Amino acid sequence: MLITGASQLLTLRGAGPRRGATLAELGIVKDGALLVRDGLIAAVGTRAKIGALPEAATAEKLDLAGRVMLPGFVDSHTHLIHAASRAEEYELKIAGASYEEIARKGEGILNSVKKLRAATADALKQRARRALSQFAAHGTTTIEAKSGYGLDVASELKILRLQKELAAEQPLDIVSTFLGAHVVPAEYRGTPAGVKKYIALLAETLIPQIAKEKLAEFCDVFCDRGAFTREQSKQILEAGKRHGLTPRVHAEQLTRTGAAQLGVKLGAASCDHLEQINSSDIAALSMSPTVATLLPGCDFHLGLNHYAPARKLIDAGAIVALATDYNPGTSPTVSMPMILSLACSQLRMRPAEAIAAATINAAYSLRRDQHIGSLGVGKFADLAVFEVADYREIPYYFGVNTCWMTIKRGVVVYAANKTTI
Ligand code: NIG
Ligand code: FE
Repeated sequence: MLITGASQLLTLRGAGPRRGATLAELGIVKDGALLVRDGLIAAVGTRAKIGALPEAATAEKLDLAGRVMLPGFVDSHTHLIHAASRAEEYELKIAGASYEEIARKGEGILNSVKKLRAATADALKQRARRALSQFAAHGTTTIEAKSGYGLDVASELKILRLQKELAAEQPLDIVSTFLGAHVVPAEYRGTPAGVKKYIALLAETLIPQIAKEKLAEFCDVFCDRGAFTREQSKQILEAGKRHGLTPRVHAEQLTRTGAAQLGVKLGAASCDHLEQINSSDIAALSMSPTVATLLPGCDFHLGLNHYAPARKLIDAGAIVALATDYNPGTSPTVSMPMILSLACSQLRMRPAEAIAAATINAAYSLRRDQHIGSLGVGKFADLAVFEVADYREIPYYFGVNTCWMTIKRGVVVYAANKTTI
């Protein structure tokens, strides 16, 4: 396929993850074109250059008529599989209840756990499929997906097996993370011995089983007040590492626990949230290959005014990524464009920085930057086309979906509906 007519083709070319000033370098080709062969990028450059290649003459043609094309978004933090929304809590929060107060009453994550355990695999799959098609409709071509609403052996395995099935049945890539350490489930709560027993179940039963069945690549922990302590998190992440699961951490979201520096020490692929980090955490992240993944959808949805210090992280040289954190409790959105809007207006990231954070840096955090996150010869033809003439209009327009087409490994997986007016 020969794709021409991109007013701006954002290649994100250049080596590896982006830090500091390089985060804003998008490698823009004006009047850009792309040749796709067998799902991979065969050539990329200007229309004049690519159109003159011998293969271009016989290729199927797609003219973007001046729209903007970029790598498909890589959403590196989602809780894809859950049974239902928590709209009732949304209203309680608006009336003044805090996220933690709701959790302490046995609602919050535990509410989602109850509902997931009661749901059939079919119902969970159907809901996830609808979400996946919405991810695609907003320009996302790869997602990370965490378990964590099962919290017993059968339910956690059910979630991860469903993710594997979904990965095989539909075009988007799904990268699995085990989050058995989301919170301590009700049946183990109340005594230190119970908590210890749950951690042993994760470390000695679930993690080995998941590794054996190759159901996940990463192991995540929610290290925070009301969830797991730094010590407990370390124990769980180390057990994951022993079985080949790379750590990721929900770090410093509600309170500062030292989780970010723990993540750095353990070689975590990413530390996510980071609303409560201090200058020593910023220094540690900036000197490490651990990605600082920011999730501004949470603060927006919860109505909190404590966004992560993105500018300080970028200016210190940390590898910053952005993700939706799609989940029913704190960030019910699949829209990376909305996350870019929040990154620009609330985190003060430049549009170019936000795009690199949502593509190449996110791909790096999933250990897939060799294949996705930028447009170069040999990489996957994972593409998002937006109905705009300037890439800055992607975050600029908010609350509307300007995604015009999404292509996964050379196949069109979303094309904007034709309206009749
Ligand atoms: O990333 N913080 C922990 N986990 C999720 C929220 C999960 C929930 O409330 O259901 C998050 O924000
Ligand atoms: Fe999360």
